[in-house]
Amino acid sequence: MPNRHFAQTQYPILSCLSQRWSPRAFDPARTVSDAVLHRLFEAARWSASSYNEQPWRFFLARREADAANYEKAIACLIEPNQAWARQAPVLVLTAVSTRFTHNNTPNRCAVHDLGLAVGNLSAQATHEGLCVHQMGGVLLEKMRETYGIPAGFDPFTAIAIGHPTSPAAVPENMRQMETAPRQRKALDDIVFGGQWESKSGIF
Ligand SMILES: Cc1cc2nc3c(=O)[nH]c(=O)nc-3n(C[C@H](O)[C@H](O)[C@H](O)COP(=O)(O)O)c2cc1C
Repeated sequence: MPNRHFAQTQYPILSCLSQRWSPRAFDPARTVSDAVLHRLFEAARWSASSYNEQPWRFFLARREADAANYEKAIACLIEPNQAWARQAPVLVLTAVSTRFTHNNTPNRCAVHDLGLAVGNLSAQATHEGLCVHQMGGVLLEKMRETYGIPAGFDPFTAIAIGHPTSPAAVPENMRQMETAPRQRKALDDIVFGGQWESKSGIF
């Protein structure tokens, strides 16, 4: 994996976080074993969630194992995402429950908790030497119809998983994004002290 994609962190962090990045160029020839997929979803499953609701649901599509199911998943992405994501050997679509099971009230934290679970999956994937690229660019109604997602659950995102490869593998108009330096806000811009936008004083 080319190191220039890894985060240049200001403080040392876990390698499964600093080495995470979102490629568009996936190597179509390198598959992901079931044993690895077991560990990715196990990592997601053990995420924290409000009231332990575990609101996340995942649809798994593996190109090698089930091409028809994989095409179903690809068809649920917006076209600009289809253009690069179909190189990835594994696609995952996500859905989230919108209400608590214990009292049927709206779960304000549901989407937050889906994100935590995908964060766990991403960290595990990075540890396994894989890359993950999340997508908000999905066709929500198509996902609902295609997968029979019932009332009480919302289709949400997609995730491409695989091994990265040369930027030459993506359409020309996307190559620049693949190699552009990665940017982050400064810590003082996201961590406040006693008032909105006041400095915390620790950085
Ligand atoms: C919820 C979510 C939705 C995203 N949607 C898309 C998308 O539809 N298409 C895309 O190419 N990248 C998408 N991304 C990837 C982001 O652009 C990427 O994470 C961001 O630029 C930071 O880059 P990094 O992940 O390499 O640190 C999405 C990421 C997240 C977390």
